[in-house]
Amino acid sequence: MCGIVGFTGRIDARKFLLDGLSRLEYRGYDSAGIALVQSGNDSELGILRVKGKIADLRAAVDESELNGNCGIGHTRWATHGVPSEANAHPHRDCSGRIAVVHNGIIENYAQLRAELIAKGHDFQSQTDTEVVAHLVEEFYSGDLIEAVRATVAQLTGSFALAVLHAEHPDTIIVTRNDSPLVLGSYEGGALVASDVPAIIEYTRDVIYIGDRDMAVLRSDGAIECYDATGAVFEPTVYHVEWDLEDAQRGGYPDFMLKEIHEQPRVIRDTLAGRFDVVSGELSFEELPLSSEELAAVDRIYIVACGTSYHAGLIGKSIIEAWARIPVEVEVASEFRYRNPIITSGTLVLAITQSGETADTLEAVRLARKAGAHVIALTNVVGSRITREAQTVLFIKANLEIAVAATKSFLAQVALLTLLALHFAQQRGKLSKEQVAEIYAEMRKLPEQIEWILANSHEIEHCAKACADATTALFIGRGVSATTCFEGALKLKEISYLHAEAFPAGEIKHGPIALIDVEKRTPVITVVPQSLTREKTLSNIEEVLARGAQVIAIATYGDKRIHELTDLVITIPSVSEYLSPITASVPLQLFARAIAIARGCDVDQPRNLAKSVTVE
Ligand code: M6R
Repeated sequence: MCGIVGFTGRIDARKFLLDGLSRLEYRGYDSAGIALVQSGNDSELGILRVKGKIADLRAAVDESELNGNCGIGHTRWATHGVPSEANAHPHRDCSGRIAVVHNGIIENYAQLRAELIAKGHDFQSQTDTEVVAHLVEEFYSGDLIEAVRATVAQLTGSFALAVLHAEHPDTIIVTRNDSPLVLGSYEGGALVASDVPAIIEYTRDVIYIGDRDMAVLRSDGAIECYDATGAVFEPTVYHVEWDLEDAQRGGYPDFMLKEIHEQPRVIRDTLAGRFDVVSGELSFEELPLSSEELAAVDRIYIVACGTSYHAGLIGKSIIEAWARIPVEVEVASEFRYRNPIITSGTLVLAITQSGETADTLEAVRLARKAGAHVIALTNVVGSRITREAQTVLFIKANLEIAVAATKSFLAQVALLTLLALHFAQQRGKLSKEQVAEIYAEMRKLPEQIEWILANSHEIEHCAKACADATTALFIGRGVSATTCFEGALKLKEISYLHAEAFPAGEIKHGPIALIDVEKRTPVITVVPQSLTREKTLSNIEEVLARGAQVIAIATYGDKRIHELTDLVITIPSVSEYLSPITASVPLQLFARAIAIARGCDVDQPRNLAKSVTVE
């Protein structure tokens, strides 16, 4: 997704802009650019844009005369118009004195563009963004704040905007609607970015503004905030715990591997403080629902996208098994366009790592409008969903940079498991002893994951055996089928190897035809200790008989599986409903190993963005 940075201060803005854009590279982009109010030249802004990487932009800036203390920058992920220098941001008005960077989509841009062209404005790009620069030009008569306010009143859609004007050499104006922006200041000046990593080198005290609020950043570090009516307000300052080290790779070759190795810590943090040994009860102080209210819940909808949706599928199995509440899991982009049955007994869990996924936010709005209580599970403090849901539970994954979600997935599954225990306990479906026993088993998970990480050599070996495949199938039963869905997504998104997951019992109803004896089609099976283990072993025999190459994720000491295949990745013994947490770790490492063997960029897979803030 696109990234925004902006700086106004007493020092050269180029370093902040270029370093900030580099720190937003993980969001995915195809072009980049910066605009500066040039020192000693208030007639026109200096602009440099490239199609390609930040390194190319940095080289172009180094070779140029461009300099100044006030500027804005952008990484673009194309939505309207092809990736090209002309479509890269910043975009200018006709005079070249106004520049704009934008994240989101201006939905009424076609109509605005036609009106502006009719008034004589000359457009240089195919983007929706350029209308903003021309609208500011149209409304400007000396007061930039008023011109931006009048412009925003014309816009429908989602936007985070930063605006620069050559006549206001120390000022950046920012505003947003449904698209994130974070602001901060330090002794050197004032900063804005679309995401925290771009600014944490300078400050950890940050401000988030609301929809259609506006902020004016000044070179002395002052930030003036105005609400949508134009009234000044005092913003809340949030302290971000993440430091710069969190935004860097910490010695690992890529963020994905670093984040996979952080998972023992993530599970420890997720469990910390959630069990009160004195009362023997799960502790969810953030949840305002009493046991009577929980007893009245007759249906749960889980809404989410991508990996978060897979976490939801696992959550369904566990909540239904323990708390005995019917759960429906829906892809948010589908949920928002149908007419789901929501009653006073409906609870909605919205899962989103970023807290900014447009479809999930819309699903939440729909659910709230229909009267449901919405609990958001998210990773990002201050993100959009934290202001949309009635209740927010934070997963403890910390900043996740690799596009492929790993630690946030495990954190989501662990938190859903704890929620299932809480619901079950409050509804009298599990005794205190049963809850204490399961929680005690969960406490062992961090060490078990450490064991898997320390014994990952088997994974490399298995990955080599199928790195050249053209398709891979994943099969499992029960909760392991849902673990497989996430394993297949991880593999396809970072290695571009086509992968599909099926409940193992379904394979003979169609997918088994995909097995090609000559290609030795890989079939990855997740077969931990479970009620359905024997059935899965039969399914493994079926695919072996058709010439598949079977890679099995199985419990340490499972002799039977070693009789069936040489390619076994072992995991410690855990009870069935905790197995998604342990089995997912080798699946992540397996996907990464194949991606590396195929020469792929595991942190920034092609065509993907970390958070999808457009529909
Ligand atoms: O931030 P969210 O959890 O709402 O993001 C949802 C999906 O876009 C995300 O999980 C996506 O599928 C990732 N590429 C998975 O690795």
